[in-house]
Amino acid sequence: MGLQSSRRRAGALTVAPLTTALGAEISGVDLAVPLTDAVIAEIRAALLDHCVIFFRDQQLDVAAHKRLARAFGDIFIHPNFNTGDHDPEVVTITRNPGDTKIVGEEWHTDTTMMAEPPMGALLYALDVPPYGGDTLFANQYLAYEGLSEGMKTLLAGLKCIHSDRKVAGPNAPVTRGKRSTPVRTDGAWRETRSSHPVVRTHPETGRKCLFVNHSYAIGFEGMSEAESQPLLDWLMDWGHRPEFTCRFRWQVGSLAFWDNRCVKHLALHDVHDHRRVMRRVQIAGDRVR
Ligand code: SIN
Repeated sequence: MGLQSSRRRAGALTVAPLTTALGAEISGVDLAVPLTDAVIAEIRAALLDHCVIFFRDQQLDVAAHKRLARAFGDIFIHPNFNTGDHDPEVVTITRNPGDTKIVGEEWHTDTTMMAEPPMGALLYALDVPPYGGDTLFANQYLAYEGLSEGMKTLLAGLKCIHSDRKVAGPNAPVTRGKRSTPVRTDGAWRETRSSHPVVRTHPETGRKCLFVNHSYAIGFEGMSEAESQPLLDWLMDWGHRPEFTCRFRWQVGSLAFWDNRCVKHLALHDVHDHRRVMRRVQIAGDRVR
């Protein structure tokens, strides 16, 4: 089915799916003004249906960006980006020519070392390269549903430890390259760990999805990291098979809103000669069940 033929109007909004797996572009709404309850409900419904939704040509200053986030929950303050020199509710993700490391270059779900990882994020494009710098998303409902019954049985009840040691702190790989977006790497930083089910149930849709990711998952509860690694690696790679994904090309004023409970994403590290600047506000989530 072509994009055009699948375009549909949901109340005031038009929702155009991007791929079979996930993603939809939404038009017919100005996100810079306070939204009515009806429009907020339509956006939430589109998010639940498509897992990640995209808006074009939005004019969002910081206040409007935060107001939009608050329409869907409390703002989440990221402990590792909270370097004390900027508004803790906002993370500006910058890459400059010559950067060898970027934020989000591995397939990941955001901030899963927390006991209550964020439910979602609103990423807004301030400055984009003429080409490159796309973001990829992968549907983790499909990743779970595509497993064999034997694997589903094996994973039922299994928990995974998530740690932020690979993305922050004095020993993180980020300290061994040039990255324009600072994260805490100071000596006072302490690792945060949480244990989450490998298969979670989405609190709003009730659907099961796979919940392990390259940036944070380090091993299964009750097993050594070495014992865990082969299966964990397989599950994490399985989770971004091409048929589970979509890819978004940014323009200045584009906004992506992803459901962090059922989506993994990756920032493509292919912009070497250009600047790319994004503003991100995360929305608080709840305990993973
Ligand atoms: C992120 O992982 O939140 C950053 C994504 C991006 O910059 O495209």
